[in-house]
Order: sequence, then structure tokens, then C-alpha cells
Amino acid sequence: MRVALLGFGRLGEARAGAYAEVEDAELVAILDPTLARRRRGESLLPGIPAYARLEDLLRETEPEAVDICSPPVYHEGQIRLSLAHGCHVLCEKPLVTRAGALTELAEQARSAGRVLYPAHNYRFSPAMHFFADTLRAGSLGTLRQGHFQIVRTSHALGVSEWHPDWRRDPAIAGGGILCDHGTHCVYMASRLSEEWPRAVSCTIDRNGGSEETVRLELETGSVRWTVELTWTGDARRNYYELSGSLGSAVVDDDRGYLHQNGSTTTWALPSALSDSTHRAWFPAMFAEFRHAISDPKCAEDVLAEGVATVSTLEHGYASARGVGERLEIDLPAICRGRAAPSLTHEPSSNGAPHEPALEVTDVQ
Ligand SMILES: NC(=O)c1ccc[n+]([C@@H]2O[C@H](COP(=O)([O-])OP(=O)(O)OC[C@H]3O[C@@H](n4cnc5c(N)ncnc54)[C@H](O)[C@@H]3O)[C@@H](O)[C@H]2O)c1
Repeated sequence: MRVALLGFGRLGEARAGAYAEVEDAELVAILDPTLARRRRGESLLPGIPAYARLEDLLRETEPEAVDICSPPVYHEGQIRLSLAHGCHVLCEKPLVTRAGALTELAEQARSAGRVLYPAHNYRFSPAMHFFADTLRAGSLGTLRQGHFQIVRTSHALGVSEWHPDWRRDPAIAGGGILCDHGTHCVYMASRLSEEWPRAVSCTIDRNGGSEETVRLELETGSVRWTVELTWTGDARRNYYELSGSLGSAVVDDDRGYLHQNGSTTTWALPSALSDSTHRAWFPAMFAEFRHAISDPKCAEDVLAEGVATVSTLEHGYASARGVGERLEIDLPAICRGRAAPSLTHEPSSNGAPHEPALEVTDVQ
């Protein structure tokens, strides 16, 4: 598959490296409006042309797919133009910065017979595999509650040649920490409970207009989730906890813990969450993207999950504009009448590794 990479910043550069490890994908062009980034692309990727305008790239290189790694506010226009040129689209989070655009984009993808795939890469993380295996084994019984805590000492900086602080600028990011990290938490909650988000309440602490600390309460079916996000922590930490009728499971950075019947089993989780580009998770996600092209149900499931995630965040922002009141989530039509995607995707006939086996080491 001939792929063009749109946005050659921190993630785009890591992604270019990841494509070298993906079978059946050939990088044919990159897009970046910043001259210094195009020059860097050309020096790292000899023979691959770097464009400043998407229209020129699409017309001259005719990629089969684009991989959108540009800042969020540009996603919507780039999705629309790429679909119009017949490309399948893999797009970074947040998929778009306004939920209202998604129904139209989903319809455009459907009528063009092309896939619009949200890069929900945390689904392919060792932490999610640990939770998925634990839930599938029935170790937690009925899932009741979940907690996600993501602590950072600052926002992640973008490349110095563009706007390194864009994550704090809502005009570019579409928000702040809620879009940046909250996106992952929302689709993980939905996937783990196999239910769509149905209500949310949210409070946001700001500093100089920029989101710094967020508390989100989310309901998916009968499961209740709390999500705490901050850019003002003392140290970097990812802490996730699931509680069920029979036990609880915790991921604390690169350790997994299963608490059951008064005893604890500890697991070492490979590929820690500390690489912010999460390159190691990309081949499995790309395999699912490829699979979605030949499996309309898979394509619709992941797109519906993207739509539900953006819509949930939009309701979260609406709640935070008030006093953090609970708002029922009015999900767009693509989600209604469709079951939320399950944790245990059927392995495809062509062997796409939706859920690779968990590699764990019992360290007790
Ligand atoms: N899923 C994940 O785990 C993950 C991790 C990191 C970043 N991201 C996402 O990747 C995207 C990029 O983040 P980043 O950290 O690489 O940012 P970055 O600031 O490092 O890079 C952004 C790049 O985009 C370029 N750019 C600006 N306007 C553009 C346009 N209109 N078209 C194409 N390129 C344009 C800039 O010149 C810059 O090179 C964001 O959507 C971010 O949320 C996702």
C-alpha cells in the first residue's frame, strides 16, 4: 500500500521509522508546510518527496492511503480532501476538533468506499492487552468501575521548528489536555466495557486560559469511570484501575497487578508507556487499518468508536462550561443501533493481529 504521511513533526518522524517495519506499506510522500521539517524529511528519507501543499501531493503521487499526523485543527480538511482523491485515511487523535463534522465525513467515506480510521493506538498497548486478557479470563467478574490517572509535569512539546506549545492553544489543538489524553481514556473505557459512553460530567482547571487539570466522570452502560488528567504533576505517571465483582486489576506504568481473593499477582508489562510516539504499537494498529479496508464491519466499528469519542469529549466540554453537571450523551446516528465494538475482535480470516497474545512475566 502506497502511503503519504501528512505532518512531519515529532509523531510523523517516528511514524516514518515505524513504516520501515511494516510489511506491505511503502511511504511515497510527506507533507509539511514548514520548510525546515520538509528538509529534515528529505534528509532522513532520501528519494521520498516532501510537499508543502496537500493538493499537489495527492495529484502528483496518487497515494492509496494517507496517514494524518498533523496538528488536530487540520485533520478535518485533510480527511475531506484525501477522501475526495480516493484515499483511505488513517488519522491521529483527536480525529477532528468538532463532532458536527463527523457525520458528513463518515458519509463521504462510505459513499467513496474508503476507510476513515481513527488512530486509537492505546488499544494496542500492553496495558490494554493485560486488561483484555484479565476480563476475558473472567478474573474480575462483572466490571463495575474504572479509573484512569494520567500525570505529566507539562504538556508534550511539538517540534521546535513549528509551534512547540500548540497543545495549549485551543485554536490548534481543539482544546487542551482533555483532547490530548482524554481521547485515549474515552475509547479505552468504551472498549473495556463494550458499551458506548452514555453520560459524562467534567470539570477543568485552567491557567491563563489553557487546560491544565481535568476530572471526567463517565458512564458506559453500568460501568462508572473516573478520569484524572494533569499537566502539573511532580512526575510522569500512568495509573489505570479496573474493579469488578471478583477482583481488581491495576496498571501502574510498566507493572500490572491482579488483586483477587486477598492475593496479588504482579506482571511486568513490556513496552512501557514512556515513548510518547508509541511506535511499538503501530504495526498492530496498521494491520487493523489494512483489515478494515476489506471488512466493512470492522471499518464501521472503529469509525463509530472515533465518532463516539469525539462526541463524548464535546459533551465533556459542555459540562465543564457549566458547573460540571452530568450530561446524557446524544451519540450520532452511526453509533445508534450499533453495538459498541467488543474487546475480543474476531480474528480476521487474513490473520490481522487484532489482539496479539499478551507477553507477560510473572515477577513474584
Ligand atoms: N496517538 C498518540 O499516541 C499520539 C502521540 C503523539 C502525537 N499524536 C498526534 O499527532 C499529531 C501531531 O503531533 P506531534 O506531536 O507530532 O506535533 P509536532 O508539533 O511535533 O508536529 C506537527 C507537525 O505538523 C506540521 N504542520 C503544521 N501544519 C500542518 C498542516 N496544515 N499540514 C501538515 N502538517 C502541518 C508542523 O510543521 C510540524 O512539523 C497530533 O494530532 C497529536 O495529537 C498522537
